[in-house]
Amino acid sequence: MPTEFISVTFPNASNELAPEVEPKIDPAFLVRYARALDDYGFNYTLIPYHSSSFDPFTIGATILANTKNISIIVALRPNTVYPTVAAKALATLDQLSGGRVVVHFIAGGSDEEQAREGDFSTKEERYARTEEYIRILRRAWESSEPFDFDGVHYSFRGFSNKVRPTKGTIPISVGGSSDEAYRVGGALADIFGLWGEPLKETREQIERIHAEAAKAGRKDRPRIWVTFRPIVAETDDLAWKKAHNILDLLTANRAKGLGRFAPGADAPKNVGSQRLLEIAKRGDVQDRALWYPTVTATNAGGASTALVGSPETIAASLLDYVDLGADLISIRGYDNYNDAVDYGRYILPLVRKELAAREAAKQAVA
Ligand SMILES: Cc1cc2nc3c(=O)[nH]c(=O)nc-3n(C[C@H](O)[C@H](O)[C@H](O)COP(=O)(O)O)c2cc1C
Repeated sequence: MPTEFISVTFPNASNELAPEVEPKIDPAFLVRYARALDDYGFNYTLIPYHSSSFDPFTIGATILANTKNISIIVALRPNTVYPTVAAKALATLDQLSGGRVVVHFIAGGSDEEQAREGDFSTKEERYARTEEYIRILRRAWESSEPFDFDGVHYSFRGFSNKVRPTKGTIPISVGGSSDEAYRVGGALADIFGLWGEPLKETREQIERIHAEAAKAGRKDRPRIWVTFRPIVAETDDLAWKKAHNILDLLTANRAKGLGRFAPGADAPKNVGSQRLLEIAKRGDVQDRALWYPTVTATNAGGASTALVGSPETIAASLLDYVDLGADLISIRGYDNYNDAVDYGRYILPLVRKELAAREAAKQAVA
């Protein structure tokens, strides 16, 4: 599979550097942002899910209607949509877009966050429910033959789905770093999403995922998605200056209780964030250009590992992960729109050029 790039969708100009209190959708910004990603060669854009935020399905439909090539990754929490309904909704978007849909499962790292929408299950139960959910989607997309399902979390009789994905199925992604995440994602997912850890830890996580895939008797392996927040400038020195300015802003905003993580917020419950905070204690800069103070400053709220440097330094760092077997590279900035354009101008072409050169060299000796 070619190395592909993932961005994240923002329906307005609010961002972690200049967070608006209750941002509304800015349709013009949403379309401009999505078209910029499309024009600059991003392959996917994740539409995140949070209990107080916009609906990923409708945002996704708008992006697909206003773009040509980019695929949407719809973040889905099983407790929010019944699986038969999601099977049809995702396949509907898939038919509308000629096959440009991926679904990313959120088992949910925080009990408090889950309780906000009536989900009082344990995390283990949430992953077991995700497993049933994925099995139902796969069966629903496979054929329109009616089927029954008798599970612990879902049971129904004679369901028939006549809305079939254009390519016969829709890629399924699972994200997380807990044992349950590795088990469910390793056994069932087409894609496994990880946050930005150093090469050694990322290799270990990939090995865990592959081991679960083997245990489940799979011949194939999930594609690996890694996630970074590149801070890029013309030179490494300029990038480090920019990085410290960004850190000051993140820290100041957090002190003012702006953004997602107010000061004194509890330690995150999800393993992915806990791991990032542990790694951050080992030192600010790790490997080539990974930078962890942005993790600590945001309490590891989601994807928070920065990569700092010139386009050449950032591209070289991303290629290190490609060499590890991660062919899905998620990069999003802090000044969302402008950073996405900078990545499209300076980083994606560099990575693709180097990969093409490697491929040509391989062909030359083959
Ligand atoms: C790449 C990636 C994207 C994620 N996107 C979201 C999201 O949009 N909303 C959300 O609540 N959690 C999101 N998560 C969190 C996880 O999906 C997960 O449910 C949670 O962190 C529990 O993970 P754990 O198994 O590591 O404890 C994401 C995780 C990863 C790795």
